[in-house]
Formats: sequence, C-alpha cells, structure tokens
Amino acid sequence: MRWLAETVGSRPAGSVAEGRAAEGLVERLKQAGYDVELQPFTIEQDEDLGSGLNVAGERFHVQALHQSGSGVARGTVVDVGLGQRSDLENLDLHGAIALARRGSITFGEKASIAAAAGAAGVVIYNDQPGLFRGTLRDEMSIPVVALSQQDGERLALQAGARRVTAELSVDIKRVQSTSHNVVATWRGSEEATIVLGAHYDSVADGPGGNDNASGTATAIEVARVLRDAGTPYTVRVVLFGAEEIGLLGSREYVTHLDAAARERIVAMLNFDMVGVGSEPLVGGSDELVSLARSIAQDLGTPVAQVGSSASGSSDHASFIEAGIPALFFYRSNDPNYHTAEDQARHVDPDHLAFAGSLALQIIEKLGEK
Ligand code: BES
Ligand code: ZN
Repeated sequence: MRWLAETVGSRPAGSVAEGRAAEGLVERLKQAGYDVELQPFTIEQDEDLGSGLNVAGERFHVQALHQSGSGVARGTVVDVGLGQRSDLENLDLHGAIALARRGSITFGEKASIAAAAGAAGVVIYNDQPGLFRGTLRDEMSIPVVALSQQDGERLALQAGARRVTAELSVDIKRVQSTSHNVVATWRGSEEATIVLGAHYDSVADGPGGNDNASGTATAIEVARVLRDAGTPYTVRVVLFGAEEIGLLGSREYVTHLDAAARERIVAMLNFDMVGVGSEPLVGGSDELVSLARSIAQDLGTPVAQVGSSASGSSDHASFIEAGIPALFFYRSNDPNYHTAEDQARHVDPDHLAFAGSLALQIIEKLGEK
C-alpha cells in the first residue's frame, strides 16, 4: 500500500506511473505464488490545450466537458436558469453564450436544448462549490464547459443587470494511451473461481492511498492467504487500470471473458477504499451482501449496506452488468477522497485486516454451500 501511494505516487490512467505500478504489482503477485499476465488496452482521454472563458478582460477557469466541440464562440451571455426546454421558451439564443445552472436534467440535454435554440456556446455552472468534470452523451459541435458555482453565480448576476459579452474557447484533443489490468491466477483443485478485484490507478490530483492502494494491497494479501491455506478454489486476482476514468479496466476484463469462464466465477469481491472511515460498508449482489452482513454480525462488527446492487461507482458494477455476482467492500466518508491528502498515513491497517478477514470468511462460507 505504501509502495503504491508513496513510492509510485499519483498514477492516473494511461500514465507512465500507472505502467510502473502495474510492473511492480506483477512482481508482488509472483512472490505470492501466482501466474501473472498483463492485459493491455487502449484508452482515449481529453487533453486540454487551453480552454477558457473571457468576460470583459477577466479570464474564468473552466473545464471543458467530455465530447464538447472545440473552437471559439463569441456572444452575449444569457442566463437560461436550469436550461430546460421551458426555461428557453421566450429566449432567442442566436449568437449567444447560454449560462445554465447544473441540476434537474443532464449536461447533454442542457447543451442540446441550448444549441437547438441557436446558442454558440454553453457554460454550465456548478450547484455546489468548485468545478466539476462532466460528460456529454453525444458529441457536440459547439463548446460546452463547466464553471464553478461562485463564478457562475457572479456571471449570472452581471448578465441579469446589463449586456455582457463573452468569448468562450475550448481546445481539447483526444489522446490515446495504454492502460493495463494485472491478471493473476492460482489454480486450485476446482475450476470454480473466486475473483479478487481492486483498481490500482488513482486520480491525477493525489497519491491514491485509500483510493485505492488500500484495496489493491488487501486483494493481494487475501490472495496470498488463500493460496497458503490451499483453498480448493481457483483464485484470480484482477488489479484494474483506468477505473477512475469510467471503470474501463473492469469493462475490458469482463468483455474478454468467454461464457464458460464467466460461469466459473462464483463471486467477484471488489475492494475499493477499505482503509479510511468509521463505518465498514458493503454493496453489490443481494445474496452476497446478505451473506457478508450475517457473517459480520456473527463477528460482532455489523456492516451496513449502502446503495442498490446497481450502484455503479466501482469495478464490481462491470461484473454485475455482465451477470456475475459481485460484492463491494468499502468504508464511509473519506474526507480526503480524490485529493492530494489521500495519503498512505491516513490508511488504518486494521481496516484492511477487517476487509480481508471478512472476505476470507465469505469465501469459506461459499465453499460450504
Ligand atoms: N473509489 C471510488 C468510488 C467510491 C467513492 C467508493 C466513495 C466508496 C466511497 C472510485 O474510484 C470513483 O471515484 N468512482 C467514480 C465513478 C467512476 C465511474 C469514474 C465516482 O464515484 O465518482
Ligand atoms: Zn476507487
């Protein structure tokens, strides 16, 4: 865990550091007695070459939405409220920059409604502090960007009081790079397979101590214990790349499973952010959640279930979508989530031990069925 968060540090999808992390994880899994392979895959990301919003000599910091058009739009700023169809009824947006507040409908809907009304560009400001990253469902030809709540509210006030002209520019380029899943196998006496999963990439902003060096270390340790204990199961560890940009590693992995391999998987156990926070939580497939909760209850440390089985914030979701039972181990409320402060020193080793022990007991119980 420390090696990932402190020696490698931040390891965003497709970066050199992510690749270095993959190589190191291969070695660690080999030491644990596993056969290891890398599963490379190509990813595409936006590179921002200088997007911005200029209003009367002031430059606002913006974040281009994924699938935004590139180019420069000049026009009058028009406050369109939430940017729903009903908000635009009496507005002419020809040659205008639409300023919409985040909420109620999707970014894509706001952008297409404004574009259909003639807008030359769209600025969506946040409904909570800070900027946000967002995706348009379909590619747009006009520039569409995110703005912070503070800047957005100020601009809306200005635009309401007088005529304000703005220049909105988006300059993004699609760049390709390579990410890897680290796939390790130990063949037990049975073909029935337990998949231990965790993503090892991080966001660019921080070293990903809890998110998710914690889960990566836990998955490897559970794998080592299972092999040493001579479990009858075949154990496969899959350490996913490119989770933080849309669960891409786990999607890649399940896409390449054939029907027979998919059916051999008894359960996928996903560890993501298991090292910080007061309360242990589980999510995922109902049957596995019930089993986990009853075992934890017997151990005297109840775990709560949060979210429905479809809740899609980590790699178990890719397995559930592919019809494979999956269980998600995590904890509540990490104050340093996705920040530079998500450091190894905040990760509590006892929390990793808890997640790992619970996983081992679940695997044992599954074998008794
Ligand atoms: N580890 C997080 C998900 C998470 C958040 C787990 C809070 C437990 C508590 C994961 O790496 C993440 O950030 N996921 C994204 C979604 C993904 C599809 C890009 C998220 O939740 O925004
Ligand atoms: Zn995560």
